[in-house]
Amino acid sequence: MREPEPQIRIFANLEELAEAAGDEFFQRAKKKAAKNSSFTVALSGGSTPGVLYRYLAKKAESLSREDSLWENVHFFWGDERSVPADHPDSNFGLANNTLLSKLPISPEQIHRIKIDIGDGEKAAENYERELCEFFHLSKGEFPCFDLIFLGMGTDGHTASLFPGTKALGETSRLVIAPWVDKLKTYRVTLTFPVFNHARCVIFLIAGKEKAKTLKNVLGPSQKEGFPAKLIQPDKGELFWFVDKSAAHLL
Ligand code: 6PG
Repeated sequence: MREPEPQIRIFANLEELAEAAGDEFFQRAKKKAAKNSSFTVALSGGSTPGVLYRYLAKKAESLSREDSLWENVHFFWGDERSVPADHPDSNFGLANNTLLSKLPISPEQIHRIKIDIGDGEKAAENYERELCEFFHLSKGEFPCFDLIFLGMGTDGHTASLFPGTKALGETSRLVIAPWVDKLKTYRVTLTFPVFNHARCVIFLIAGKEKAKTLKNVLGPSQKEGFPAKLIQPDKGELFWFVDKSAAHLL
């Protein structure tokens, strides 16, 4: 039985949504820092999370250098595009430019998907090895991220789990490299078992173009074909942080 129900929080605009998401990040990270244990967060890509990353960077400036919060934070990604790390479309590049490069953290705390080590499959295998090492996983185990940020496309995709792709049916691998025909490219993405094993997943959804899809995903409709609907953490918390424009059909 999945616990608890999704928590939907509606905000006036993306800025307020990002601040609330950022505050959730700090609250959870501080709890882990107080126990001197690592805090693992998987970041999302696209245009929405940039506002969150800039907010986190701004808040970080107000923390004293002595604040030990950052020393145990480990940054991962939910997915990556098949572009170099310095490409404007890179999910790593987005987070690095807006946030990570401004934090007092060491390179060992940044676990990017090394898309440039060869083809998608090599990058996926490499990232899966990194996850297994970091989380000390035995065969068949899945990592338990403290926090995962996700977005959603107007087609209901999340991370790089797109409708109609084999990726949706992956239940044993942690990381795969699906070909996404609509984009004519491959992606590297975490799989549903990883997302659904997290302690907390927060969707960040903004803009009226998402309203119809959000209604299909969160509404009573049993319409299939929206991968975001399959994000249902087994034990963890699920939040939908949405702005008013995206929520207007709920
Ligand atoms: C990506 C993201 C993807 C994103 C959605 C929404 O690599 O593109 O991981 O899943 O979250 O496409 O993107 P926007 O926030 O730009 O609408």
